[in-house]
Amino acid sequence: MFSHQPVLMEEALRALQPRAGERYVDGTLGGGGHAEEILRRSGPNGWLYGFDRDGAAIAACQARLAGYSGRFELRQANFAEMGEWVEAGSCGGVLLDLGVSSPQLDRAERGFSFQQDGPLDMRMDQRQTLTAAQLLSEMTPAEMARIFWENAGEEHSRRMAQAIAAERETGPLERTRQLAELIERVSPRRGKKTHPATKVFQALRMAVNDEIGAVRRGLEAGLRVLRPGGRLVVITFHSMEDRVVKDYGRRLSRDYEPGGAVDVPELRRPRPALVKVLTRKAVTPGEAEMRLNPRSRSAQMRVFEKLEAAAGGSASQE
Ligand SMILES: C[S@@+](CC[C@H](N)C(=O)[O-])C[C@H]1O[C@@H](n2cnc3c(N)ncnc32)[C@H](O)[C@@H]1O
Repeated sequence: MFSHQPVLMEEALRALQPRAGERYVDGTLGGGGHAEEILRRSGPNGWLYGFDRDGAAIAACQARLAGYSGRFELRQANFAEMGEWVEAGSCGGVLLDLGVSSPQLDRAERGFSFQQDGPLDMRMDQRQTLTAAQLLSEMTPAEMARIFWENAGEEHSRRMAQAIAAERETGPLERTRQLAELIERVSPRRGKKTHPATKVFQALRMAVNDEIGAVRRGLEAGLRVLRPGGRLVVITFHSMEDRVVKDYGRRLSRDYEPGGAVDVPELRRPRPALVKVLTRKAVTPGEAEMRLNPRSRSAQMRVFEKLEAAAGGSASQE
């Protein structure tokens, strides 16, 4: 069974406005909940390009979407590379529902969860060679502390990195429980609601899968495949990712490029705005959804509409 409860379903579909005759991209198929609704609501002839890095998600979605055969194409790939298969300027909507799916978290052998014992794997795409165990064996304590802090805001990042470095002197760190218990010893729970290893696991997962790099490139790729008036809908699950999405929208919605790293008014280079931000504040799940699906609690959705000016040339305005 490959089952994932989609978050912000109605909100995302309202933003995408699926219609007959249009093409859509679901860059993060997961269990295929959003994808199925896009196909259903864009009947009889809307088209869906679906991507996921996880081969198990692709297999599950092929089966789930079989009733819509002839209207979709699924591919095991990073959404950052969607431009290799999807024509620029061709789509009415792109959805990126980031992070991991329930089946990834729930299957101990995937190594994403500190709640069950499994290999320290954490690869979304199992064709990739780099695993969490390898990363932990190769990084210096300073590198580990940096990713724990930068990716997840772990306050005890240095102490945890030192403990991992000391532990690996005694033997390889290869199991999720081994890492979770080590972190519990360094930073006991003391009544806290969240497990002390939560942030370290998140930071490692992000590093193994280069998640922030994929989001940055995915936003650009998504904008490029949209037609003017098309919508880019992005759901994130932690603040670091949301900041990347928010900053991207803010930067492209301005009618100028800053002249350098610091935005000095005299150095600004005018250009038309490339997107319109349709969500002044991030959209979050309502009480009822949070109650029914606790994993939705941290979800934040932002929506951008591609403007005519972004249609010519590259949408990358780095
Ligand atoms: C939260 S789930 C998506 C759930 C989905 N919307 C549904 O309705 O079931 C996230 C999925 O995105 C995939 N993923 C994450 N980053 C990706 C990337 N850069 N490229 C492709 N797939 C990615 C994960 O493998 C996972 O299956």
